[in-house]
Amino acid sequence: DTKYWTIQQVNEASTAISEAAQILAAGGTVAFPTETVYGLGADARNTEAVEQIFAAKGRPSDNPLIVHIAKLDQLDAFVLPYSETARRLMDRFWPGPLTIVLPVRPDAISPKVTAGLTTVGMRMPDHEVALRLIAASGCPIAAPSANRSGRPSPTLASHVREDLAGRIDGIVDGGPTGVGLESTVIELIGDRVNVLRPGGITVEELREVVAEVTLDPALTHTTDIAPSDAIIPATDADLQLNDVNSSTSDDGLPAASRRAAHVSIKDAASLAPRSPGMKYAHYAPRGIMRIVKGDAPEQVTAWIQAELEQAKRRGERSGVLAFDEHIGAYRADVVVSCGSLHALEGAAHRLYAALRAFDEQGITFILAEACPEEGMGLAVMNRLVKAAGHRIVQL
Ligand code: TXA
Ligand code: MG
Repeated sequence: DTKYWTIQQVNEASTAISEAAQILAAGGTVAFPTETVYGLGADARNTEAVEQIFAAKGRPSDNPLIVHIAKLDQLDAFVLPYSETARRLMDRFWPGPLTIVLPVRPDAISPKVTAGLTTVGMRMPDHEVALRLIAASGCPIAAPSANRSGRPSPTLASHVREDLAGRIDGIVDGGPTGVGLESTVIELIGDRVNVLRPGGITVEELREVVAEVTLDPALTHTTDIAPSDAIIPATDADLQLNDVNSSTSDDGLPAASRRAAHVSIKDAASLAPRSPGMKYAHYAPRGIMRIVKGDAPEQVTAWIQAELEQAKRRGERSGVLAFDEHIGAYRADVVVSCGSLHALEGAAHRLYAALRAFDEQGITFILAEACPEEGMGLAVMNRLVKAAGHRIVQL
């Protein structure tokens, strides 16, 4: 059975936090809110506890977990001495949505957490409930996002419940998360910051602290598909293959996306990922999803609306994910606004709930507007591209 605590005010929450912390200290698994998404925590030193995380999520065991701490003085027990640059990044961005990959101290963390790597991703979340819970547990807390593998990350406790009720020991409900998508994951190569996963801390913000910031080549590589090849009606087989259980096949991508974007996936696979998580299809809704890009907004809206109408004639249930500036142009079974193109934090905040809503409404065909890959837009597009199985229509 999964225990459930609701926290309205953090300062009155000591019972919930101490009960949840005791479960963590005793080797159990507890989901909790962070400023990015809900995490599923366990003691990072306890292999049996960490194994429960992988089992509950259905997560491939070669994908390492991030370790969360509440205070800087916890850090040195788990990592080897680090550079001045790493220190400056921590000073500026912790607590906050930045995960720094550092050389792990031998035997300090369960090898299940690091998936056998010599490094560990460390972060200090900027959330009162998370910080109090970690501190009260007295443990370093390994925590991936608290979703079934392949599902959108949870931004509400109800999302965690949908995916993991009965499979974990507890859920701490601290309301909606803030950022709405995951932390930025970086590694340091000398004094250069290499971004392995864009997220809550933007590249522009990193550049304010470190002169050289690069995007890992495996991130920037996508191939567009021509509009004429873009629309393939969803079949029952596609929908099943897109489902949670089969979302990570040999090449980590659902069969439907392999067929539609064969070239881009082959190419992407030839770039050895530096972060194991890069190779898995994440966040996939059950319907077929495509991203639509074009230089002229009127052309994009007209193309999308025409495809939505065709989809309706095929008998699909259609969904569209668009920005406030164009939302009035669309008629679909589900129309979701990502907020303004000029405030992409709104898109980050709403994206995962929107992907889940499409599934709930039985949407089989989804078109999403692209956004500029600047500021938070880089992380938003990274998640959209993954959700769409790399299928981008370039007009
Ligand atoms: O915001 C977040 O980071 C959330 C909250 C719960 O903290 N956590 C999260 O964890 O997103 P997860 O497991 O869903 O994603 C962790 C990512 C994966 O892509 C993994 O491959 C990468 O971090 N990662 C972890 N350890 C790594 C390492 N030592 N080297 C390279 N990549 C690593
Ligand atoms: Mg995740």
